[in-house]
Amino acid sequence: MTKKDNPAENVIEFDVSDNEVCNPSENRPFSDVLAKKMSRRNVMSGSLAVAATGFMTTSGVSEAFAYPGFNNLVDFTPVSVADGNGPMPTISEDYEYQVLIPWGEPIVPEGPSYQYPPSAENQANQIGIGHDGMSYFPMGPRGREFDQNDFSFVFGRGNRHGMLVVNHEFGGNTHVLGKAFPESLDDVRASQHAHGVSVVEIKRRSGTWETVSSNNARRIHVNTPVQFSGPAANSELLKNLANNAPQGTVNNCGNGQTPWGTYLTCEENFNGYFGTNNESWIATEEQNRYGISSTGFGYGWHVFDERFDMANANYINEINRFGWIVEIDPYDATKKATKQTALGRFKHEGAAVTEGKDGKAVVYMGDDQRFDYIYRFVSKESWRAMRASGRSPLEEGDLYVARFNDDGTGTWLKLSIDNPILAERFNDQAEILVYARIAADLLGATPMDRPEWTTVAPNGDVYCTLTNNSQRSEPNAANPLAPNSDGHIIRWRDTEFFTGEDFTWDIFVFAQDTHGTEESFSDPDGLWADPFGRLFIQTDGGQKDGLNNQMVVCDIEKKEFKRLITGVTGDEITGIAVTPDQRTMFINVQHPGNGDPSLTNFPALPDGQTIPRDCTLVITHKKGKVIGS
Ligand code: FEO
Ligand code: CA
Ligand code: CA
Ligand code: CA
Repeated sequence: MTKKDNPAENVIEFDVSDNEVCNPSENRPFSDVLAKKMSRRNVMSGSLAVAATGFMTTSGVSEAFAYPGFNNLVDFTPVSVADGNGPMPTISEDYEYQVLIPWGEPIVPEGPSYQYPPSAENQANQIGIGHDGMSYFPMGPRGREFDQNDFSFVFGRGNRHGMLVVNHEFGGNTHVLGKAFPESLDDVRASQHAHGVSVVEIKRRSGTWETVSSNNARRIHVNTPVQFSGPAANSELLKNLANNAPQGTVNNCGNGQTPWGTYLTCEENFNGYFGTNNESWIATEEQNRYGISSTGFGYGWHVFDERFDMANANYINEINRFGWIVEIDPYDATKKATKQTALGRFKHEGAAVTEGKDGKAVVYMGDDQRFDYIYRFVSKESWRAMRASGRSPLEEGDLYVARFNDDGTGTWLKLSIDNPILAERFNDQAEILVYARIAADLLGATPMDRPEWTTVAPNGDVYCTLTNNSQRSEPNAANPLAPNSDGHIIRWRDTEFFTGEDFTWDIFVFAQDTHGTEESFSDPDGLWADPFGRLFIQTDGGQKDGLNNQMVVCDIEKKEFKRLITGVTGDEITGIAVTPDQRTMFINVQHPGNGDPSLTNFPALPDGQTIPRDCTLVITHKKGKVIGS
């Protein structure tokens, strides 16, 4: 049997991570600049009178409700370094957790129950694998209950009843199928159905959260009908000879939650699901910039599903239909998920939404790859006006990419066809958006150390995790460690209320500075600034000091870090959602044991055999305090 005859031998070592460099541009504007001590700006502490949703309004922070002041923002007893390892999670003694919606559970109680390995048919109606970004949408007496100007729900039943929307980033074939390579289209379908997004309706009954029957619970997976919106929606670059309708979302990593009550899922490493056994196939310049290869990450979908075969002329642009931010209405299952092309195509990690000047929607986004960039979208008009006229605020606006100057200032560079540099390379705005990475290269954006999540603090500072970059040899001021083994967190403040072209920035923390102490963490990834001046930091990578991946809570003003929870061997902690009263938090245990039952069987107790399952943890304080207190 030749290599070509046996697809299994064409598989490279399974690599679902971001361990590639796709940026050949020479954007190293600060290569001669060594780490310099950045003056730290005076960070205002978060106001205690806050908007329930955390979205700022143009008048500043809402005073709709106020919690009593905190003497100490992070008052809980942390998990010690010595306790933060092993096959089961360890949570602060002041807190407790409950497991919810593990991979393979039905999305409604009457659905198909868990069995291993899943059939393709069942998996389409069960929770997917690789739980990642997630948001909670409260339900009220009228169902939909999400209005940032209506704070009545803050203390209402929406804290016990809501829609939970969860990303399913990835699951390797061995974990999902129980074999390294698919043997049929049915195997491929099972793998595809394990990816995507779950929308479930959940309620707290007698202190326990559970899924309930729901008209709006649904799976959005790789084969679900979707639609495109925005400037590239009708571009030839998104059409195929096969004339197939748009379908599916994949590698759903970080997320966003809009003030108008929709969910944003971010397509990250979509390249890894495409491939070809056609040895004459050669990647184009554009495909190379997005890391597309003949082997992909080893999923083998292309062998049985021609949509994912890079050399199939009928599906030549299928790959361009992935790498977008997708908007989902959690309260209405009749609405198709919508890929918002105005936000650009790259390896989207997360999408932090806030309200800027004149009520415009502003979205901060990372492109998680070594030496890739941080982006910002600003809607054309106020989001309320756009909604009132039946449009999504994400349909039309300006996309920018960040340049960090070495003096602590920065510039947002607009990716517009009106810029002669871009007009020379691209035919129209649609092409710029489809190949946003290449447009950003041409404008001289600053190559970063893998931008993961962003979050907007109540005082207007924006934080972004730069998880690590083992291949950096030339530092720049914003990425001063070469190599950057453990990551750092950068922050900036935009002019003109999130919409100006200039900003100032500094580095908030280098993870390596916490090592050897009880505050130890590495490889920051998931990130959320709460309304009170706390930063929740989740990790994905080799932790130091013997720790599993974890979530630490930081008092931003004091720069004090406390460990709230550690996960299990071989996992990653990711995803942050809270109820409106901030007293229930949902986080995810992703790839426990990397699927290996000899490492952990979570959520089952250790038995050495049970296949570990990605799942959500519901976290509460034993005395009902706000999470992080
Ligand atoms: Fe999906 Fe960059 O983490
Ligand atoms: Ca991540
Ligand atoms: Ca990561
Ligand atoms: Ca991950």
